[in-house]
Amino acid sequence: MKLALIGGGGVRAPLFVASALRRAERIGLDEICLMDIDADKLSVFGALCREVARAVGSPVRITSTTDAREAFEGVRYVVTTIRVGGDEGRVFDERIALRHGVLGQETTGPGGFAMALRSIPAVLGYAELLEKVSPGAWMFNFTNPAGLVTQALRDNGFHRTVGICDAANEAQFSVARWLNLDSKTLRAEVFGLNHLSWGRRVTHNGQDLLGPLLRDPGFLSGTMLNVFDPELVQEVGMWMNEYLYYFHYADEAVQKISAEERTRGEEIRELNQHLLKQLKSIGVERDPAAALKAYYGYEARRSSTYMYYARSDAPTPEEADERAPEAKHGEVGEGYAGVALSIIEALETGNPLYTGLNVPNEGAIHCMRPGDVVEVSCVVDRDGIRPLPIGDIPEAQELLMRSVKRYERLTVEAIMQRSRQKAVMALMAHPLVLSYSLAQTLVDQYLAAHAPYIGKWQ
Ligand code: G6P
Ligand code: MN
Repeated sequence: MKLALIGGGGVRAPLFVASALRRAERIGLDEICLMDIDADKLSVFGALCREVARAVGSPVRITSTTDAREAFEGVRYVVTTIRVGGDEGRVFDERIALRHGVLGQETTGPGGFAMALRSIPAVLGYAELLEKVSPGAWMFNFTNPAGLVTQALRDNGFHRTVGICDAANEAQFSVARWLNLDSKTLRAEVFGLNHLSWGRRVTHNGQDLLGPLLRDPGFLSGTMLNVFDPELVQEVGMWMNEYLYYFHYADEAVQKISAEERTRGEEIRELNQHLLKQLKSIGVERDPAAALKAYYGYEARRSSTYMYYARSDAPTPEEADERAPEAKHGEVGEGYAGVALSIIEALETGNPLYTGLNVPNEGAIHCMRPGDVVEVSCVVDRDGIRPLPIGDIPEAQELLMRSVKRYERLTVEAIMQRSRQKAVMALMAHPLVLSYSLAQTLVDQYLAAHAPYIGKWQ
């Protein structure tokens, strides 16, 4: 079986490959094709992926190409993890918003809107090509903003697509880690949108384990919930996705991010440039051990400084280097990749998998329309992927979710029509913006900054 990774020259490719190789035999995997439009990065990270495979003695072939058509020939699963406009694009997305006193963040608010302008047309292009070359293949979208991109894919008739985010399973993983249980034995009830979701229960043999943990100060400070005040978590009474920080601490977030010398995007740009230089000077084939060490060091630094400005346990950069990489989501490096590969395993073997995914609502959450892509607990087996029933949700969550979904629907529409006016109305609908005048300014600046990638709009 062949699997293709679009964006295979990205820094996360070696983690993805490591995770895939662990399950290769169970899923019948014999080729991972890394595809990237950046030949230089593809050669460095491709070599690193081959080292990862060699180190575990895997028979799986790791191929690479800059041609998407070639990657799609004979493929059964495709994972898209692209960043159109590169790290530079993220810097613009975040900086432009901050300059106007609103949240500048990769996926939430204006930054996510600007990223969608570039991501959506590109991912749709790949989906169209895939349908021609290998109809029937599944496409797993990791490309951010993942909920919006998946909404666009579904709206355009691509039914074998699903959106994946590691944070969707954070409640389940955190409870498992805390109580030393195998996360597969737990069932979470997650609902919301991507980067805007809640976990109602996490059960083990039908018994809820989450409720009591939400009253345990150790759990609150030892998990991603530590971006919130314990009193807030108790009021809400549910697991809260960490991205809710940007809504419930909107003023603090802008203040703290603006007070930093560099935005997260600027920091990641620098870390990535440094890693690439380091790997080139080491020479991956010349000294694979040193290359892998540099790579894992990079990962540890990146994951342990995630949302440092919000976390009560944030390390200094020096401490970050000392820390183990599992400070972020899931098991080491398994985050995104682990979810994708577990889905493949469930689709191939028929052993049911319960996991949080971004799929059309189809009645799962009462206040949402059938075609709305939501982040929700799903079951995956040989028959495909289905959301589990959630029913009614509390008013506070419903109102927030509906207004962000409205922003998402309008954003997809604006992008499909390449309409500036629609884009302004879409951004105005976002609860962190609301202002028509601000939306106009931001849209104009984003359209100008990203013109090389999105062309001219009407
Ligand atoms: C989480 C989110 C991803 C996001 C990433 C940003 O994993 O689920 O969607 O891209 O964080 O991490 P970074 O290290 O780039 O700030
Ligand atoms: Mn995510």
